[in-house]
Amino acid sequence: MTMTESAAQDAFLPFARPDITDAEVHAVAETVRSGWLTTGPNAAAFEKEMADFLGGGDLTCVAVNSATAGLHLAVEALGIGPGDEVLLPTWTFTSTAEVVRYVGADPVMVDVDEHTLNIDFDDAERRVTERTRAIMPVHMAGVPVNADLLAEFASRHRLRVIEDAAHAFPVTSAGKLVGNSTSDAVVFSFYATKTITTGEGGMVMVKSQELAQRMRTMRLHGISRDVFNRYQSTVPSWHYDVVAPGFKYNLPDPAAAMGRVQLGRAVEMRDKRRDIAMRYIDAFMDLPVDLPSVPDDPDGHAWHLFIVRVDPKRAGHHRDQFIERMSEEGVGTSVHFIPLHLHPYWKDACGLAAADFPVASREFERAVSLPIFSSMTTEDVDKVIRATQRVLAP
Ligand SMILES: Cc1ncc(COP(=O)(O)O)c(C=O)c1O
Repeated sequence: MTMTESAAQDAFLPFARPDITDAEVHAVAETVRSGWLTTGPNAAAFEKEMADFLGGGDLTCVAVNSATAGLHLAVEALGIGPGDEVLLPTWTFTSTAEVVRYVGADPVMVDVDEHTLNIDFDDAERRVTERTRAIMPVHMAGVPVNADLLAEFASRHRLRVIEDAAHAFPVTSAGKLVGNSTSDAVVFSFYATKTITTGEGGMVMVKSQELAQRMRTMRLHGISRDVFNRYQSTVPSWHYDVVAPGFKYNLPDPAAAMGRVQLGRAVEMRDKRRDIAMRYIDAFMDLPVDLPSVPDDPDGHAWHLFIVRVDPKRAGHHRDQFIERMSEEGVGTSVHFIPLHLHPYWKDACGLAAADFPVASREFERAVSLPIFSSMTTEDVDKVIRATQRVLAP
């Protein structure tokens, strides 16, 4: 690579970058030195600290190696299976739907609200059948799903509720943190680009001890006692019972050690993202784009993503051209998400047509996510603002 090429690459602002300090590096190094490379005391402490953060009481947290694993464990523990249908928004990552397939059930895609991009309960109402067993709403970009509407809808149709909170940590809805609800399970992601990270990882919040126990068993091969307990307990450590054909979904301790430090910094990092969002909103107010709405409650948005809608008629560009022009300006962007009904597998497997999801199909053409991560410097934010202004200048 030449000096000029490397300078150009340095100058490129990626769409996302984790916010890792010396504290995380130190915690991981200490754990590695301790010899606990698999699930151990750090994972147990991380679960406890996460449950306390979310409100304590009867909340239990189960650490896993991805949100996808957590969603799968939740669907499995609830006994959802062949013949069952699960409602979920078409505007999500494929994980939300794929776990429904893992257990042989049918995901039923639902259109979204045009402002929040969260599941549209009126459309969900139209798609309920006698086979509907559960609903899996997604708190898109960090905007909480309306908790009252969700609880009312689920109770009226006698549905199980699994919240996909991959984007929603930490965020409050009606004075309560997402994760402290009456839902059966709430699943967080700690993937590398998420609001707190362990590289790969996730956490499931459950209230029922029975569900928590099933998830703990199934996350480690269906073995009745997990590794940590096996080595702590007075029962001989070599003995274990396999009670089901489980999975390999446990979170290793070095990742958990990183997660504990990130958890301690979660609010500070969210506040930094909120400050970035406020700067964007001020700067883009007069540009020909639709901006995300700002909730009255300052803690009411996790600001995991900053999604703008580029309207070709007003902006003079299609979203795709906007992405290209931003890249030429040295700014990485992304699109969250290509709705499930536009992907070949889901389209064919579930017989879906774009016309059945008018809002998602229309908004997908306009949506683009700008960089918003807590390790952005003031100069990084200035760069995004200048680039967006140049590209969209009337
Ligand atoms: C909405 C949503 N659900 C689930 C996931 C899966 O998370 P993980 O990568 O931790 O399995 C993601 C990850 O991008 C996501 O965006």
